[in-house]
Amino acid sequence: MDQNQKKMSAAAEAVKYVKENAILGVGTGSTVNYFIDGLEPIKDKIKGAVSSSVASTKKLEAMGIKVFDLNEIDSFDIYVDGADEINPEMDMIKGGGAALTREKIVAAVAKQFICIVDDTKVVDVLGKFPLPVEVIPMAREYVARELTKLGGRPVYREGCVTDNGNHILDVHDLRITEPKKLEQLVNAIPGVVTVGIFGKRGADVLIVGTEDGVKVSSRQ
Ligand code: A5P
Repeated sequence: MDQNQKKMSAAAEAVKYVKENAILGVGTGSTVNYFIDGLEPIKDKIKGAVSSSVASTKKLEAMGIKVFDLNEIDSFDIYVDGADEINPEMDMIKGGGAALTREKIVAAVAKQFICIVDDTKVVDVLGKFPLPVEVIPMAREYVARELTKLGGRPVYREGCVTDNGNHILDVHDLRITEPKKLEQLVNAIPGVVTVGIFGKRGADVLIVGTEDGVKVSSRQ
């Protein structure tokens, strides 16, 4: 079974959490794209979605699923998204696809975060995957110097402009043993829009696609 098949099986499992008449929070990335594909047979039974990126909005709308402005919605039950890494406490690194800011906003409003990954994303300690940080363009070099002081090696993601018109620094060489603390520290640097650590709002349910089928766990 290859990585894509594992992503597909995790995504198919997440479709089972979708209730009739629901508005869904929808993340971004290749795993979520399989989830959106999985909505096809039930798309007429849901009210619509709140999307975390221009790319997911386009895919949802192309299928005829209504995409709501988040400002119109007070709350909704589930947010389904992938991750670049997830640890046993269900803290995540996200932002490999540069959608981290809108993902964090939509996830904050959802009652439950359902994370769908293949088993290569499950780690003991976050940080092998370079940590994405979305920055205001004029602050890029300043933020990079501050991130270096925190022990990281920030690399400018050349040519990447986020849906919000900002830039991304990918921070290498971190071993993130205290994700929630680092999330706060990086978010406090002037010029940082969002850090790709999802600790304060981690996942509630983790669905992992593996060689032996899907493994589902919930936050204790
Ligand atoms: C988008 O910016 C990311 O947070 C994605 O959710 C994450 O990179 C997972 O993407 P894949 O499902 O493509 O691996």
